[in-house]
Amino acid sequence: MRVLVTGGAGFIGSEIVRTLTSAGHEAVVLDALLPSAHGGAADRPDSGIIVADVRDREAVDRALRGIDAVCHQAAMVGLGKDFADAPLYVGCNDLGTAVLLAAAAGAGVRNLVLAGSMVVYGEGRYECPLHGPVRPGPRAEADLAEGRFEPLCPSCGTELTPGLVGEDAPVDPRNVYATTKLAQEHLAASWTRATGGRAVSLRYHNVYGPGMPRDTPYAGVASFFRSSLARGESPQVFEDGAQRRDFVHVRDVAAANAVALEAVGGLRPGSFAAYNTGSGEPHTIGEMAAELASAHGGPAPRITGEYRLGDVRHVTADSRRLREELGWKPTMGFAEGMAEFAAAPQRDMAASPAR
Ligand SMILES: NC(=O)c1ccc[n+]([C@@H]2O[C@H](COP(=O)([O-])OP(=O)(O)OC[C@H]3O[C@@H](n4cnc5c(N)ncnc54)[C@H](O)[C@@H]3O)[C@@H](O)[C@H]2O)c1
Ligand SMILES: [Zn+2]
Repeated sequence: MRVLVTGGAGFIGSEIVRTLTSAGHEAVVLDALLPSAHGGAADRPDSGIIVADVRDREAVDRALRGIDAVCHQAAMVGLGKDFADAPLYVGCNDLGTAVLLAAAAGAGVRNLVLAGSMVVYGEGRYECPLHGPVRPGPRAEADLAEGRFEPLCPSCGTELTPGLVGEDAPVDPRNVYATTKLAQEHLAASWTRATGGRAVSLRYHNVYGPGMPRDTPYAGVASFFRSSLARGESPQVFEDGAQRRDFVHVRDVAAANAVALEAVGGLRPGSFAAYNTGSGEPHTIGEMAAELASAHGGPAPRITGEYRLGDVRHVTADSRRLREELGWKPTMGFAEGMAEFAAAPQRDMAASPAR
């Protein structure tokens, strides 16, 4: 199979390229080498990849020649600096996806695997002892400022128990990035209906592992902690550290992409399917910081009580559908993965991107 991997010079994309290549597939990489993801590396000419933006229709048309499937990883990630970043996110992620899909339609490419995200769910799934499953709204700034981090039942104000989110949970994006990730799925679903294409969105949970970028406002929490440790500083854990997440290793995510690319051609034309992609082993952010710090040999994390308004309290995946329907199985355990991550280099923002 010849696969166009957009964003293939990034953290997850470059691991997908390695996985596909070692399985005997051919990967064509198109990546704009965004400065927010690659720092100074964006200035360098690079060989072996097409350095172009997914919004550049001509470049995408050329990249699509002879392609059997598209694996769309290119996106601006993270929460960004502030709302001023919104046009950048929407441009890269949504206009970019629209241009890519229009080009794919023109080129007769019908199979798409999309890098989705758990951020589409907003606050995960909760149970109230009285009201059953409930969906708390966004947390109030006044509560966060007072250190009241747990969302309460919207009907009775009782403390809730977090549970696992399934793919059929209602979507509820809580920030600009999340909104753009949801719009990518909606564009992909519209594309399948309009063209008879087939699309799979893998809703990744918190991906970590070697090659993560150093900390920028555009990276994830594992990257911040790892960068602090590398500087000899304590990881700064926001809120009280009890936020639950599912940390999934980048090689498991790359393997999920490989099985999705194998499977997508067998779907019914016009169909779109979403799959949660998580380890199935939820942990708190505080536990992750402690595990990483101890594997690194210190210093120990510090709980700061700080908060970011766009953050959700708990969101953990139920990834059964991906296991049962596509036969994917994560192989990296939490302690083993964090030990490897603590020792592995991060992507040097000033050097050439990892491939
Ligand atoms: N890292 C995570 O935990 C996580 C979680 C959920 C979803 N995702 C999704 O996974 C995908 C890959 O993320 P990552 O963590 O590897 O980030 P990354 O920043 O390392 O990689 C993204 C790559 O896309 C490129 N890119 C961005 N916009 C582009 C554009 N308009 N045209 C061409 N190239 C462009 C960047 O230069 C970069 O190389 C993204 O779609 C992201 O939304 C990541
Ligand atoms: Zn209640």
